[in-house]
Amino acid sequence: MLERFQPVPPDPILGLGQLYAADPRDDKIDLGVGVFKDAAGNTPIMTAVRKAEVVLHDQQTTKAYKGLAGDEAFRDEMRQLVLGDAVPADRVATIQTPGGTGAIRQLYETLKMINIDATLWVSDPTWPSHVGMAKHMGLKLAKYRYFDAATSNVDTAAMMEDIQAMQPGDVLLLHGCCHNPTGANLGSDDWQALTDFVLEKNVTPFVDIAYQGFGDGLAEDAANLRMMAARVPEMLIAASCSKNFGLYRDRVGCAMAVCSSAEQHAVVSRNLAVLNRLNYSFAPDHGAACVAIILGDTALRAEWESELNDMRATMMTIRQDLADALRRQCNSDRFDFIAEHRGMFSRLGLATPEVEALRTDHGMYVVGDSRINIAGLSGGRYEPFANAVAAVLAG
Ligand code: LMR
Repeated sequence: MLERFQPVPPDPILGLGQLYAADPRDDKIDLGVGVFKDAAGNTPIMTAVRKAEVVLHDQQTTKAYKGLAGDEAFRDEMRQLVLGDAVPADRVATIQTPGGTGAIRQLYETLKMINIDATLWVSDPTWPSHVGMAKHMGLKLAKYRYFDAATSNVDTAAMMEDIQAMQPGDVLLLHGCCHNPTGANLGSDDWQALTDFVLEKNVTPFVDIAYQGFGDGLAEDAANLRMMAARVPEMLIAASCSKNFGLYRDRVGCAMAVCSSAEQHAVVSRNLAVLNRLNYSFAPDHGAACVAIILGDTALRAEWESELNDMRATMMTIRQDLADALRRQCNSDRFDFIAEHRGMFSRLGLATPEVEALRTDHGMYVVGDSRINIAGLSGGRYEPFANAVAAVLAG
């Protein structure tokens, strides 16, 4: 049977890490997968997480199963972190999932189970797994124009034009903040217009928020999502703790369904928990338990928020430094947009041969669509990177 498998191409993001690891050059720079990096190029464990792990180690008395929906304290804290007071708690069904990817998967499973005729509309471009998972699961998929390569900004008019073709019952996937891969984000007026649109068209918004706290702040990054959640009857949300808690490999996330009523909430909650049972029974506990400890403890929470603020400040500084360095090196304002973008990524707008030249000639590992992980340039690495970009562009 297994001979039926065909060779598969490397993952567009994760495959780059393998090439990077095999590169013997000392001055190579990895700007691929979205993990935060400090000045030394390491991805540290956050101090608040370390402390929560100690608390967990000292206080945990059993590893017996928890409920299918996951840790109740974690789910409650996450609902508040993401939604604030936008929606009453008794309208939000939440399940713990293995990372934000697990949340997306479970919400796709929900579509497959109850709304297979719906088309899932995603931004062009979007995070490759949004598309990969939908195709793998046989969901109907459509793309709306999003990024204007000429301005490196969102083309809101084109987006609004494309989504007019949505049918009632379709699902509109939006990035809550820090758009991946472009770094270009919708403004609050756009979110208001989109909320009017989903209400008018009777389509379901699905917001993926994987980088809360990496853009402008924890509350700021959730503000548009909260505004929309307060106005619509139903909404799907995938949240991740991979980035803002640095818990990448521990796989911590949750899927939320904002329901139209408290009565509906009970049925939806139970169905989401059953989906966990059908796919993997229980989401991993360790990281989620640490998040619950941090968010439930005033001092640890303050420590975590301060570390998160530092990470965001580092990325903002790099954005400005890189934009300045590229302006100097290229003698052009072509890359000024980098300072305006938010989050972990920006798409530079380089052609494929230029991305390849960056890798082969300079040891700079950029995703094929020219997405860079801004955090990969900490510790002054923006300067050699800007030199390399200028050299490549000069031919
Ligand atoms: C990324 O986009 O680099 C991250 O979301 C990691 C991943 O799983 O792709």
